[in-house]
Amino acid sequence: MEKLAIRGGARLDGEIRISGAKNATLPILAAALLTDGRVTVGNVPHLNDVTTTIALLGRMGVEVTMHDGWKVEVNPTSLNECYAPYELVKTMRASILVLGPLVAKYGRAEVSLPGGCAIGARPVDLHVAGLRALGAEVEISDGYIRARAKRLRGARLFLDTVTVTGTENLMMAASLAEGETVIENAAREPEVVDLAEFLQRMGAKISGAGSDRIVIQGVDSLGSASHDVQPDRIEAGTFLVAAAITGGRVRLRAVQPADLESALLKLGEAGARVSTGDDWIELDMEGRRPLAVDISTAPYPGFPTDLQAQFMALNTIAEGVATMSENVFENRFMHVPELQRMGARIRLEGHTAVVTGVSQLRSAPVMATDLRASAGLVLAGLVAQGETVVDRIYHIDRGYECIEEKLQQMGASIRRLA
Ligand code: EPZ
Repeated sequence: MEKLAIRGGARLDGEIRISGAKNATLPILAAALLTDGRVTVGNVPHLNDVTTTIALLGRMGVEVTMHDGWKVEVNPTSLNECYAPYELVKTMRASILVLGPLVAKYGRAEVSLPGGCAIGARPVDLHVAGLRALGAEVEISDGYIRARAKRLRGARLFLDTVTVTGTENLMMAASLAEGETVIENAAREPEVVDLAEFLQRMGAKISGAGSDRIVIQGVDSLGSASHDVQPDRIEAGTFLVAAAITGGRVRLRAVQPADLESALLKLGEAGARVSTGDDWIELDMEGRRPLAVDISTAPYPGFPTDLQAQFMALNTIAEGVATMSENVFENRFMHVPELQRMGARIRLEGHTAVVTGVSQLRSAPVMATDLRASAGLVLAGLVAQGETVVDRIYHIDRGYECIEEKLQQMGASIRRLA
C-alpha cells in the first residue's frame, strides 16, 4: 500500500492552481445520463473517484472520452444497462448519484446500497423516499435498490435532513418528471449550484439552487451541453491551512473565494492575513503561530465538515484551547487517535473535541481512515518534528489531485513511498 512521508519544519511559501471540484464533478457526470445528445465536462480533476465514476458509466455502455487531460465527453445514447454493482458502489458511495438520472431517463435502475463508511452510517433513505414521492416504485432487497417508473411525476418534497447528494439526486430526477417539483430544506452547497447550472445548460428548468427551496419544472427531454466544473473549495481550504499551520504563505489561483467564506473568516481569527480577488486567495501567516479557533460544522453556508480534520490539525499546534463540534456526521473524529499519537492534546466529548494547542508535534507512523482525515494527518506532518509516514493514502488520492506535487511546489518535504 502506498504511503506519504513528510518531513516537518519547512515554512511553506508558494502559488498553486486549484483543481476542479470532486463533489461537483461526480453529480455532473451522473447528470450526463439524462441527455439525448452528448455533453462535454471541462476542468475535471484527475482523481480516483472520477475514474471510478467513468468506469461505472462505461460498464453501463455509456461512451466516455477523455480529451487533453481535463475534458470529458459523455455520450449515453449507447447505454445498455441500468445497473451499479456493489463492487463499484462500495468503493465510492457517491455512485448513488446515478439512481435519480437512471429512473428519470430510462424508467429503471438497480443500484447497490452504498453501505456505511468510516465517517458514519450515511443512509440513503431520503434519496429513496424522494423518488417514491416522485412516483417511482422502489424496493430494497439483498443490498440493492431496485426502482421503476413509467414517468416520474412532480411532487413537493421535504428533506428531513439537509443532504447534498440527496438534493442532487432528486433535482436530477425531477428535471425529467412531469410537472413541478419543489424541494424544501434543500442543500445549498456550491456544488449543488454547479450541477443546477449544468442541468439548465442541458435545458432543465430549475430555480432556487443555492437556497433551501429549489423549484424544478419537468421537461420532456434534455439536450447536449458543455460546462466547466467549479474550483474545489475543499482542496483550496486544505492548502490554505497548509500555509497557516507552517506560518507560511500561499497564493491560490483558479478559486472562488465566495465559496470559502466561513473558512476564510476562521483563518483570519487564527491570525492569518487573508486577501482575495475574483479568482484568487492569498494567505500570509507572517511566521506567526496560529491562534486556536472554535469550529462547529454545519451544512453550507456553515463551516464545512470536509475541513474539520484540517482545522483540527491547525488547532493541535495553535496557541490556546479550541472547541470543535462535528454536527454533520456521527463519527468523523477518526483522525483524533492518530493526531494524539503525534503528541496532540485532544479530549473527545461525544460530538465535540476539545483541542489544547502544543508547541510541537512529534512525527509518528499514522494511518489514514477517510479522505479528509488523511489530509489532516498530512498537514500535521508538515509541522511535526522528524518524518511522519501516513499509510493507506489511497484515501487521499480519491479527493486530492497530486497532493504531494502541489505541496512540494509550496516547499514541503514530502514524498510518496511505494
Ligand atoms: C456529500 O456527501 C459530500 N460528498 C461529502 O464529501 C460531504 O462531507 C457531505 O456531502 C456533507 O457536506 C459528495 O458530494 C460526493 P449528506 P453526502 O447526504 O451527500 C444524513 C468528501 O470528503 N443523511 O449531505 O453523502 C447523513 O447520514 C465527502 O468529499 C441521511 O440521514 O452527505 C449525514 O449525517 C465526504 N439520509 C447527513 O445527512 C440520507 O438519505 C449529511 O449527509 C442522506 C443523508
